[in-house]
Amino acid sequence: MTAIKLWWSVFSWGGAGKPRLCSRGAGLGLGLLFAGLLGACESKKAEPAAGAAPSSEPAAAAVVAPIKIGLIAPFSGPFAGAGKQIEGGVRAYLDVHGSKVSGREIELLVKDVTGVAPDVAKSLAQGLIVRDNVDFLAGFVLTPNALAVAPLATEAKKPMVIMNAATSVITTKSPYVVRVSFTLPQVSAPLATWAAKNGIKSVYTLVSDYAPGADAEGQFKKTFEAAGGKVVDSVRVPVQNPDFAPYIQRIKDAKPEAVFIFVPAGAQGTAFLKAFQERGLAKQGIQVIATGDVTEDQELGAMGDAALGVVTTHHYSAAHDSPENTAFKQAFAKVTGGKVRPNFMAVGGYDGMAAIARVVEKLGGKLDGDRAMAAFKGLELDSPRGHIRIDPETRDVVQTVYVRKVEQRPDGLYNVEFDHFDEQKDPGKPPPSP
Ligand code: PHB
Repeated sequence: MTAIKLWWSVFSWGGAGKPRLCSRGAGLGLGLLFAGLLGACESKKAEPAAGAAPSSEPAAAAVVAPIKIGLIAPFSGPFAGAGKQIEGGVRAYLDVHGSKVSGREIELLVKDVTGVAPDVAKSLAQGLIVRDNVDFLAGFVLTPNALAVAPLATEAKKPMVIMNAATSVITTKSPYVVRVSFTLPQVSAPLATWAAKNGIKSVYTLVSDYAPGADAEGQFKKTFEAAGGKVVDSVRVPVQNPDFAPYIQRIKDAKPEAVFIFVPAGAQGTAFLKAFQERGLAKQGIQVIATGDVTEDQELGAMGDAALGVVTTHHYSAAHDSPENTAFKQAFAKVTGGKVRPNFMAVGGYDGMAAIARVVEKLGGKLDGDRAMAAFKGLELDSPRGHIRIDPETRDVVQTVYVRKVEQRPDGLYNVEFDHFDEQKDPGKPPPSP
């Protein structure tokens, strides 16, 4: 059985796979010498015992080392669903395209970062670099974790493939970071443009109180006010388990025409929309506009009526009509057992794996960090979301951002795309330093 298949056999939708226990150490200056000391067992070839007669059998064909990908994401705690989506996406790609690239087997080393936990992320990355000698770091749902690992990627010259974390600045923190997912400014600017064009004049913003929320709030306000709208007030809520009731009362009292929201994908979107409905804001005529994180596909079923009519902008909807998306959804259902709908994080995993495979192919299986980064620049993919490319200047993704409305279809609620903004680069990068 191949390494990847072996791995998959222990993966279940209920938990992450177990990391391999030992491999080659490396003399990196990462302050983790102990991790290096643990290693050096699995890649050693068996040597004949001293004095033994040489074997008459022809030398076995040289064993080609696998390509190792360290996948860091949350598989427990409040963001566990996101990690499972990303891993499902990666495995869906391998199921469709095979687990061998340029003659080398892909081996996933899956690590549970447990939530917003920069220190855990850092020590997992150190272990993957020093002990496991991975070729790629990948995953990264949450911005604080990605930011903590970026300096290690630089030091070790390991490509770091961001499959979700969406704060603009992440790609500027290391020349070894490449992002295939999206940024909050990239989806918030088109929503502000759409809102202003569609007669919305006053907006209250509510975002999670951490870097992606600040990015979403800042870009929405900038674009909306430049287009003649007014942000009447802004509030930030705790990243984990916020109680939305008091914030919703404040929005009700302020009587804006619309409320703009960003909260991380998962149960928070449902909690917000249900509280919004229960307190009668929709009846009062206040429209909800949001980034697509709020009405993400896995959670839509739990939202029920409260989500109907919500307008969002994002890079992926399960309702996207294309042969690539149909094939992706089938593969995702096959590898995960078909119980959950794939969301944009799963597409991030799928495309991140596709990008890695393309880079390995381009390099003929002979990897090094700098050549791999050069190969990521300008890469183009026909993703389940549509055509995407990696901007060679910023190493960030360029893509179509869709405007969608939640609608009931015979088989459930969907984000139905009805407008689009093509070729969107991340507008949120800090200006280049002088
Ligand atoms: C992030 O932390 O960058 C993040 C997490 C969840 C999202 C979007 C961004 O839905």
